[in-house]
Amino acid sequence: MTQAPPLRICADDAGIAAAAEILRGGGLVSFPTETVYGLGADARDDTAVARIFAAKGRPSFNPLIVHVPTLEAAAEYCVFNDLAHQLASAFWPGALTLVLPLRPDAGISKLVTAGLNTVAVRVPDHPVAHALLSAFGGPVAAPSANPSGRISPTTADHVQQGLGGRVDAIVDGGACAVGVESTIINCSGAPALLRAGGLPVEALEACLGQPLLRPEDPQTPVSPGQLQSHYAPEGKVRLNAPYADEGEVLLGFGPVEAELNLSRTGDLTEAAANLFACLHKLDAMGATRIAVSPIPDHGLGQAINDRLRRAAAPRP
Ligand code: TXA
Ligand code: MG
Repeated sequence: MTQAPPLRICADDAGIAAAAEILRGGGLVSFPTETVYGLGADARDDTAVARIFAAKGRPSFNPLIVHVPTLEAAAEYCVFNDLAHQLASAFWPGALTLVLPLRPDAGISKLVTAGLNTVAVRVPDHPVAHALLSAFGGPVAAPSANPSGRISPTTADHVQQGLGGRVDAIVDGGACAVGVESTIINCSGAPALLRAGGLPVEALEACLGQPLLRPEDPQTPVSPGQLQSHYAPEGKVRLNAPYADEGEVLLGFGPVEAELNLSRTGDLTEAAANLFACLHKLDAMGATRIAVSPIPDHGLGQAINDRLRRAAAPRP
């Protein structure tokens, strides 16, 4: 495992070519997507994929998302039914991950899928991710580039702080615009929401013309990665707090007096983009108790509240 500090790579043509070469050699490359930074490796290479799990300290039962540059490339690895095709055509590239039946001849490492007969695929909407995936020319397995259970990274500095010497290179593409991970839909049967994310559920349901099954519905397949405590800052988190108690730092939303504010104007898109950066800042401030303003539970608010509930959940 690499111990030297990671190579910081500029997102120009030469940098993308160098990053693709590292992937070809079985290395780990962190790269920006529109949601969060990913920790990428060749999804066909067992050793490279094993290094992802080791670098993150991630339990091996938790499968990874395969990133590809186009829908056509995705179809090499999984089977699209009509509804999946409808969603992919409408929202790719974008913050949508589809869980679909794995093609038996896909050549994807069993570590990526944790031995399941489905695979999660996504076409990210970011020019640097697109350039890297195209230059590499194969499937890239990439979880978020944070130590397992900790806050996801939305800048190259976050990746450097969290994974330091455990990644070969970090491609610096600036801050991620969406700021929360992709929405995950299992489309291998009746379409089911597995994780709220950067694409609002309302938009998906409008496209499908039918409601999605929810994670709590008994027919929804279990998503192995939905650990209760996750995205955790160092401090203890209290939700739905109109104001901070003595000794708490307030993470605000809307027009409140607060040390940090997700969006003073109450804009959920801005709040999603700021969420993880604010949690990282609270760690840097040494906040031991964090109060968070109430956040409306519609649109991107569902993803924000999901991440905050996990941040506030009891730690293992
Ligand atoms: O926005 C994102 O999705 C980011 C960027 C880097 O693309 N990636 C990301 O990956 O959030 P990660 O590993 O942090 O979350 C992937 C989630 C996990 O909860 C995992 O359990 C679930 O996807 N997943 C992967 N394959 C699955 C499968 N076959 N069935 C059900 N859930 C799956
Ligand atoms: Mg993650």
